[in-house]
Amino acid sequence: MRPHAPALLAAVSILAVPVAARAGSQPLRAKHGMVVSQQFAASQVGVEVLWEGGNAVDAAVATAFALAVVHPSAGNVGGGGFLLLRPAKGEPIAYDFRETAPARATPTMFLSEGRYDKERHHEGLLSAGVPGTVAGLHLAWKEHGTLPWKRLVAPAIGLAEEGFPVTEELARDLRRVLPELLKHPASRAAFTREGKPYEAGDLLVQKDLASTLKRIADKGPAGFYEGETARLIVKEMERGGGLVTQADLAAYRPKVRIPVRGQYRGHDVISMPPPSSGGTALIQMLNILEQDDLGAMGFRSAASVHLITEAMRRAFADRARHLGDPDHNPDMPMTRLLSKDYARELRRTIDPQRASVSSPSSFEWPAESEETTHLSVVDDQRNAVALTYTLEAGYGSKIVVPGAGFLLNNEMGDFNAGPGLTDEKGLIGTEPNLAAPGKRMLSSMAPTILAKDGALRLVTGSPGGRTIINTVLHTILNVVDHGMNVQEAVDAPRFHHQWLPDVIRYERHGLSPDTLALLAERGHRLEPIGIQGVVAAIAFDREKGVLEGAADRRWADSAAAGR
Ligand code: DON
Repeated sequence: MRPHAPALLAAVSILAVPVAARAGSQPLRAKHGMVVSQQFAASQVGVEVLWEGGNAVDAAVATAFALAVVHPSAGNVGGGGFLLLRPAKGEPIAYDFRETAPARATPTMFLSEGRYDKERHHEGLLSAGVPGTVAGLHLAWKEHGTLPWKRLVAPAIGLAEEGFPVTEELARDLRRVLPELLKHPASRAAFTREGKPYEAGDLLVQKDLASTLKRIADKGPAGFYEGETARLIVKEMERGGGLVTQADLAAYRPKVRIPVRGQYRGHDVISMPPPSSGGTALIQMLNILEQDDLGAMGFRSAASVHLITEAMRRAFADRARHLGDPDHNPDMPMTRLLSKDYARELRRTIDPQRASVSSPSSFEWPAESEETTHLSVVDDQRNAVALTYTLEAGYGSKIVVPGAGFLLNNEMGDFNAGPGLTDEKGLIGTEPNLAAPGKRMLSSMAPTILAKDGALRLVTGSPGGRTIINTVLHTILNVVDHGMNVQEAVDAPRFHHQWLPDVIRYERHGLSPDTLALLAERGHRLEPIGIQGVVAAIAFDREKGVLEGAADRRWADSAAAGR
């Protein structure tokens, strides 16, 4: 007897019915503009700028300043990042406002008594590079903005001066770094309630930050790199043995760069060039993967996870070998790395049944957190901005500049440890990314835009250190190869391989036991993790003329705002 047979048949026939128009999770849809960021108040600030007639660059600048207040782990004025613009008309352009090493930096600065010193590399004032955010946002605004600069900084000033309610997510995050904040009096004053952690619902007021933002609003970059703000930064550097001087601040310049470009199954892929490795590695992986039909292989089939992993392994090996600040590495083989021919050569080295081996194989896994932040904006004209910026670790160096109210980055930690210091514990000592005066440290940030047949298709990016590149890759594959809507593409489970250590890290529950077994059979080592990345993406449905915004539910405060 099989009493359940009719019910089973019914279920099967339901599954066989073509997918209804409203299957899967849904993005926010809007016609005239969209902002997606990691904090809802900041997304709201951006969309209000669009309502007022501002364009995507205006909205991105205002959102970024708002994030510096309401998302202090990564939103910043004391860090740096990259802004990619694809204007509705004209050529895409990239703004590089990555931090630079101060003039007194040397390749051996992270050694003490000849030995590598992790604290000098990643903590304290030595780990702070010369901030680029204010100069970078200002340059992008000067070249493309339409609303007054002051108008764009004003919402951030209001949020800092009047305060905003601490969310559960922020309270949890601040509690996590409480011991480190307590080490620095100005950090303690800014981000604790007299030494006690903020609770959800408390008002977080940041008066010193408001004053800094007012100087930036009034004077532009001069309000940061000169005068009172610069004086406060230099005073803190002198107090605590940091290297950044007034001259370093005055010398900081953001750079306009030509984005890297690729083609993936009829899509134009536009992304960040060095000093980020993001766009180069992304396009290299797409070029490898284009040679197989991933859609037919099926989402997260063992065969496709294997192939994607092998593409990741190869791109990350090339990243470590070749990439650094282009102004200090004039001979990077960019043309070859981005070419389809080279990708074909690499594809031939992949055995579909067997994992390759990364060597040396005993590297420890360097911690990757979600402590960068990405925002995406599209306006009514379909100008599109992808902006990723960071303090490096969550809350950067954890050091608030006394009197200025903002956190200093610890981006110097993205330089390699020291000459020849490649070791089994995960240090890298290759030449292209050693510290040097004025040099930009290699990044993985990958603000990326896709177009198809000349029209905007997708804007995306994520935090997550080296995982960023693979997170962006997944978003693209999910949309292009698996036909997901952008929210489904963002929701779908992710995995990461970065050459060394030789392991696939996958989001818990993201791969079935059967798939894990098949991958292990091919020789892969696998480890579950919590989450990978926090994507902020916008897709454009050209036929319907509709924008689709997808915030990432992995970070509760993330939100899309549309008009
Ligand atoms: O530029 C980079 O690639 C890193 N500093 C980004 C840092 C990040 O995403 C947070 N955590 N690892």
